[in-house]
Amino acid sequence: MAITRKTAFARRGRRNYSAPSVFSFFSKPRQLSTPLVADMHSHLLPGIDDGVKTPEEAFEVIDQLQELGYRKLITTPHIMTDYFGNTAESVRAAYQAFQPRLAAHRPSLQFEFAAEYYLDDTVIALAAERKPLLTFGDKYLLFETNMISEPLQLKEFIFSVTLQGYKPVLAHPERYQYMTLEKAEDLRNRGVRLQLNLLSLIGHYGPPVQRLAEKLVGRGWVDMLGTDCHNLEHTRLLRAVVRTTAYRKALDLPLINHTL
Ligand SMILES: [Fe+2]
Repeated sequence: MAITRKTAFARRGRRNYSAPSVFSFFSKPRQLSTPLVADMHSHLLPGIDDGVKTPEEAFEVIDQLQELGYRKLITTPHIMTDYFGNTAESVRAAYQAFQPRLAAHRPSLQFEFAAEYYLDDTVIALAAERKPLLTFGDKYLLFETNMISEPLQLKEFIFSVTLQGYKPVLAHPERYQYMTLEKAEDLRNRGVRLQLNLLSLIGHYGPPVQRLAEKLVGRGWVDMLGTDCHNLEHTRLLRAVVRTTAYRKALDLPLINHTL
């Protein structure tokens, strides 16, 4: 039987033939990631830790962060007994001194404060005495540890603050020399949220930190992204971060930043 145009079309039909369409070249358009507008880790209260030194420097850094798209900054000065001498009261006082000036000149910016607690005897005692700790959002408690070895009291601290209704957030897990994927998974199983530093994604803290950061993103174990911004050099580097594939991958995670 001669194959006519009609029968050829019918045979194609049996093979589920479908004509190519211009749309097939664009099948499944990639969903655009939600940009970060809230940051929850920075050192922007002038002169109280190793972050910005003066109100003028704070303004410059904040302007740069706004240019990067941030509309809400929750700044988190160090509370670390052996350095800076900060307490919840001194952080609050520094905020109250600076915030009205900022609100007057940058009215569109939401600016709040909490703290980055260093896990030392002081914060352990505060938690044991059930003294109120500085938090942000839904009782998120940002804390960091020493860089070298896992603190003996780490799990007890997590248990203690969790019992009191806090939601512990470990700052930059990728930076600790003792951190492994197994330990990170164990911490998440204990209810700890993990906050990655954006600068880790471009190797600012070295290649091993960058590798662990990428692995944590790959596993989907990053709950928050933070700038940990201390100065203008950090904002300059953040401009490089937002152009990377690693950053876009991290943005695809269900980040708590979007709820802050
Ligand atoms: Fe920090």
